[in-house]
Amino acid sequence: MNLTLKNWLDAGVLAGISDGDMFDLIVKGKGKMVGEGDRLPPEKAWNMVHYVRSFAKGGGAEKEAAAAAPKS
Ligand code: HEM
Repeated sequence: MNLTLKNWLDAGVLAGISDGDMFDLIVKGKGKMVGEGDRLPPEKAWNMVHYVRSFAKGGGAEKEAAAAAPKS
């Protein structure tokens, strides 16, 4: 599908998207991403929003970089 997917461990990637916008994006879709539509009840779509946000909590991208860096 030639998709460009972002790194959700990096909080900056999602900083410009509000929770409401993310909810709409998950339900309605965007670009090549198909929305969940009616098959996802609203409370589960909100759970998705919080789940996606949770990836960047606790310094996700920084931790990843530190783990990849050579140990000194
Ligand atoms: C329930 C499952 C999914 C969730 C929670 C989800 C969530 C998101 C979120 C939060 C974004 C906006 C931030 C970003 O660009 O990374 C996004 C964008 C995107 N997603 Fe998904 N997604 C899901 C499923 C999918 C699937 C199955 C595909 C592939 C067919 C897909 C393809 C894309 C693409 C291509 C974008 C960029 C859209 C654009 O900016 O034009 N997503 N998704």
